Amino acid sequence: MNYNKKTVKDIDVAGKKVLLRCDFNVPMAKDGSGVITDDKRIRAALPTIQYLLDQNAAVIACSHMGKPKGEVVPSLSLKPVAARLSELLGKDVIMAEDVVGPDAQAKAAALKPGQIMLLENTRFEKGETKNDPELAKAMASMAEVYVSDAFGAVHRAHASTAGVADYLPAVSGFLIQKELEIIGGALANPKRPLVAILGGSKVSSKIGVINNLLEIADTIIIGGGMTYTFLKAQGGSIGKSLLEEDWLDYCNDMMKKAQEKGVKLLLPEDTVCAKEFAADAEPMTVDSMHIPDDCLGMDIGPKAIAAYSEAVKDAGTVIWNGPMGVFEFPAFAAGTKAVAEALSESHAITIIGGGDSAAAVQQLGYADKMTHISTGGGASLEFMEGKELPGVACLLDA
Ligand code: 3PG
Repeated sequence: MNYNKKTVKDIDVAGKKVLLRCDFNVPMAKDGSGVITDDKRIRAALPTIQYLLDQNAAVIACSHMGKPKGEVVPSLSLKPVAARLSELLGKDVIMAEDVVGPDAQAKAAALKPGQIMLLENTRFEKGETKNDPELAKAMASMAEVYVSDAFGAVHRAHASTAGVADYLPAVSGFLIQKELEIIGGALANPKRPLVAILGGSKVSSKIGVINNLLEIADTIIIGGGMTYTFLKAQGGSIGKSLLEEDWLDYCNDMMKKAQEKGVKLLLPEDTVCAKEFAADAEPMTVDSMHIPDDCLGMDIGPKAIAAYSEAVKDAGTVIWNGPMGVFEFPAFAAGTKAVAEALSESHAITIIGGGDSAAAVQQLGYADKMTHISTGGGASLEFMEGKELPGVACLLDA
């Protein structure tokens, strides 16, 4: 797939109406107060928005939030996003009551150069996730240029992320450009050795990534819940630990492939386990191949921490996707914390996949020590799997 795409700098936007797809799918407080608990994705969109406004474009921003499945769900309205965006920009953000309905159409028609408006949650429209051409056409009809900066949603072929590009000249914003350059660069032409750290709970969610990275990486480090399926595949006793029975053969295949390709595949020598999955459970360090029958693995142990930190020390590039243990519980956060610390101390280019790993790095206080923290969870994962990204494929080639 060609990632060399035209950007907002390659097209004339002055005085034009620009439909800008952002990923404003931000976490909100659970109490329904409309408080945004992390505005990172809104901040990440600012350089492109500011550039468009400086160029005197009229910006019609849009995004999805959550999964309202084609219904208007008031708790998933983008109104709180408009308010936060307005604070960050220091200017009015006109909020539309709908996506392509009469209010959006009227406000878009009246929008002046240098002004910005935000459409309602694109997933309030049934046609959004079906990539309905009628919806795409209606969205496109409000603008003259389409700019996509929603990296977090480029793996979705939806009306607002891909369909609109059939009706408007389509280019990327600065966020997509940066994500493609950094993650794409690390995959295509990494500074070696390339170390990939893969964690998270399930082997099944990382199959494509492990398989693709075995073609590229020099070392692959395994941690998190998926470790135990690998250990079981090797003949270990894993007690009550997470097991994906259906993926045992796959784990064996991956270990064989690693051997054939000369890729170091590291599994934790020791494990911190507990009798129950609870924050106040008593941590116990055991040999990874002998987890007691009444225990489950919760984190990597001190020997694994030492080995993993050592592997990271001389890396040229480190890609990290997925925590090493249950980092939400302080007693089982040591592995994830140690890996974050090792990355922060290394001279490598350090790239953190979005989602849980980004949250872990942030929560543990290492965010500003990393080269790049992706704004995409599923998107960065699919990128690392080597899959085509519809939200990028639809943009004009440079
Ligand atoms: C994300 O949070 O990963 C993106 O906003 C995409 O959201 P989705 O998984 O609901 O499509």
